[in-house]
Amino acid sequence: MGLHKPIYGDLIKRDKTMAQHDTLWINGTLSIITEKGVPETLEAGAIACKDGLISLVSPMQNLTDSPKKLADNVVDLHGKCLTPGLIDCHSHLVFGGNRAEEFNLRLQGHSYEQIAKQGGGIMSTVNHTRAATEQQLEHEARKRLALLVSDGVTSIEIKSGYGLTLDDEAKMLRVARRLGESTPVTVTTTFLGAHALPPEYANNRSGYIDLVCNDMLPKLYEEGLIDAVDAFCESVAFSTDEVEHVFRAATKLGLPVKLHAEQLSDSGGAALAARYSALSADHLEYLSESGVRAMAASGSVAVLLPGAFYMLRETQKPPVQLLRDHHVPIALATDINPGSSPVLSARLMMVLGCQEFDLTPEEALRGMTINAAKALGKSDSIGSLEIGKAADLTIWDVQQPSELAYWLGGNKAESVIKAGNCIYQRPENLDL
Ligand code: NIG
Ligand code: FE
Repeated sequence: MGLHKPIYGDLIKRDKTMAQHDTLWINGTLSIITEKGVPETLEAGAIACKDGLISLVSPMQNLTDSPKKLADNVVDLHGKCLTPGLIDCHSHLVFGGNRAEEFNLRLQGHSYEQIAKQGGGIMSTVNHTRAATEQQLEHEARKRLALLVSDGVTSIEIKSGYGLTLDDEAKMLRVARRLGESTPVTVTTTFLGAHALPPEYANNRSGYIDLVCNDMLPKLYEEGLIDAVDAFCESVAFSTDEVEHVFRAATKLGLPVKLHAEQLSDSGGAALAARYSALSADHLEYLSESGVRAMAASGSVAVLLPGAFYMLRETQKPPVQLLRDHHVPIALATDINPGSSPVLSARLMMVLGCQEFDLTPEEALRGMTINAAKALGKSDSIGSLEIGKAADLTIWDVQQPSELAYWLGGNKAESVIKAGNCIYQRPENLDL
């Protein structure tokens, strides 16, 4: 995989005719289908795309003509699974340096909070990110993105939050935008200025919140760099009052909000987010029943992040059964970041979601597809196999969708299709 021209290309050679569909995949196990009254998984199914959109989803037996007559290209899946491309709805993909040293410290018994208090943690990454050039940040983030794509991802949300000055936050967001423009992956950007209090404002918390609300946010928005606004609501970060200032400023600009909430304690962040009709509240290990009710009422998605839970050896699990009981949609994401979640595989989050949070494999797959799309406000266009949605598809080297939440590691994505074009093809196995 080259670094500058990584894995992206158009491997499906189109020989355009007047066929009804551009490409038709036949004999697949298709999941997740969200059409009402239809099972979520279709065995012996066919799916096609035209001009980048899904143009047909059908049982093989209902095809109206021979596959070759229906489409310019026909691909036989031989029973393999085909799902929507995975959607990583919570990531900190752009950052400088890494924190492997801190991981070693944690292995020796130092806690995440202790390390943060000694100037490590998020601030260590802030220092590396500020010191890095835009090109360096882009180069490293692009390599990580290529790994996620090779594991089935076709859309990703990328947060800022390691700059904490106008210029450095802008630098991160420009990198995220450029990744969206220069790769086939759909990128949405989230401004996370209220991620940590920078040392320059150690004695002036309200001054920093003012800077975020009255300077950074409007300017970055004006430059077209922000799709949503996030904050870290926690005793070690920002209070609900402080976050509310940020949410008010975002709402004034018409920007949707989301929140890192209830990760280390029950701070009431999810209920606050719900009051601002947040797209999602994320982490949620310490979420209370009243927080769940508030989220249910606002329609916010619960984004669970099993990578951070696992790497921090957290023992408090998010209240999955309550979320189910109150019909709060559950999504999963990598939370890829150099501190709490150095995760380079989205599918692995499906395995950990089942193993650690007792999700079912079906819930895990919905969590990385349709519910992740909801967490980005994009469920009209991506996240399920439905006619008219983007033909963002991943073909897996498995026969049952539940295997996606079972194999621990390995390259199970065989082909990744974005808007009808193949952007990744797994190399042939070595001939051993
Ligand atoms: O989502 N919780 C806050 N922010 C990140 C961690 C960032 C870091 O440790 O660098 C998270 O886990
Ligand atoms: Fe995060």
